[in-house]
Amino acid sequence: MPQNRPASTLIHLQCSRTGKTYEADQLRTVAPDSGRPLLARYDLEAAAKTLTLESLAFRPRGMWRYSEVMPIQDPAHEVSLGEGSTPMLLCPRLGGELGLSGLWVKEEGRNPTGTFKARGLSAAVSRALELGARELAVPTAGNAGAALAAYAARAGLTAHVAMPKDAPKAVMDEVRAYGASLKLIDGLIGDAGHWIAEGCRDHGWFNIATLKEPYRVEGKKTMGYELWEDFGGELPDLILYPTGGGTGLIGMWKAFDELEAMGKIGSDRPRMVAVQASGCAPIVKAVEEGSDEAEVWQGAQTLAPGIRVPHAFADDLILQAVRDSGGTALAVEDEHIVSAMHRWSATEGIDPSPEGAATLCALEILKERGEVGRDERVVLFNCGTGLKHPELRPQ
Ligand SMILES: Cc1ncc(COP(=O)(O)O)c(C=O)c1O
Repeated sequence: MPQNRPASTLIHLQCSRTGKTYEADQLRTVAPDSGRPLLARYDLEAAAKTLTLESLAFRPRGMWRYSEVMPIQDPAHEVSLGEGSTPMLLCPRLGGELGLSGLWVKEEGRNPTGTFKARGLSAAVSRALELGARELAVPTAGNAGAALAAYAARAGLTAHVAMPKDAPKAVMDEVRAYGASLKLIDGLIGDAGHWIAEGCRDHGWFNIATLKEPYRVEGKKTMGYELWEDFGGELPDLILYPTGGGTGLIGMWKAFDELEAMGKIGSDRPRMVAVQASGCAPIVKAVEEGSDEAEVWQGAQTLAPGIRVPHAFADDLILQAVRDSGGTALAVEDEHIVSAMHRWSATEGIDPSPEGAATLCALEILKERGEVGRDERVVLFNCGTGLKHPELRPQ
């Protein structure tokens, strides 16, 4: 652990629904009072003194550079494979085609295990290790399982992963290669969730399901800190994010709240656009209906597995972030996703996952509707590498 990083200012955990606080020095899942997600709270006044753009310039790369607002108490427990500090790539050719002067992609495919899931699982596994968990488990659409398997191996812990039996083969191979046990489920991520919950009950595994423990979102929030750093202490105008469980969207929104509380930014925020597939769009439906919660989507189907999530556990937090930001949620068609993958690769040399490509489709919709200004700064999240999807290559 490099010496020039300040200590964590973690104070306690707080229920996202009731505001009740809980000590953070023991393993916790959801808030005991409400069953809703717990969020980590920090001494932001103290953190603000050292977390500056100037000091960051001298810190090592990677998501652990924001150490004041990360939960690990002893740096020896940091389980890292070099996650974070991913490239923010200007896309002038694609931007030109869309009539935009500032189109960027946050290239999350560059993370360990090839997706932004590495951030969340690095944080969650580190904190689980610190608090004494030994067997970790996750239900997943695929990529979170690969990331858990890798970080558990790195930490010397045992991992149990359950995913739909039609998840990408490359991802199943990854999970096995990292030495985790893999259960294939005849169903979707929610069914995998039931199987994992049973394992946790029967065998004492620690459940790292999306927002059912407090720290995955702490890893994902570092994307928000990186945007702030990438834009020289400002934020972009528009962010398009492929939304399944919504950890990254909720995490970035939390990062923006923390940055504002520290006096690093004002109250202006990017419009957050949650992007889903038309075959599984519970958040889009809830936004359209003006609802605070999303109904479970029946018959979920899309070739973008990471966003095939019929019910996001933290639906209320996703909807709140989208609304408070003045953003929206959009559903895109699978066939457009595939052509967007090919177009993006061939135009910019960037190899998007189908979930990442969905954000380009959504941007085209917003552009057609006249909802994006020519000089707005727009960030698309390419959440993973296209290499896991050989079946979607141009033939
Ligand atoms: C490649 C990819 N993109 C997007 C998502 C959705 O991420 P989130 O859970 O933060 O909404 C996932 C989740 O599995 C994923 O694997």
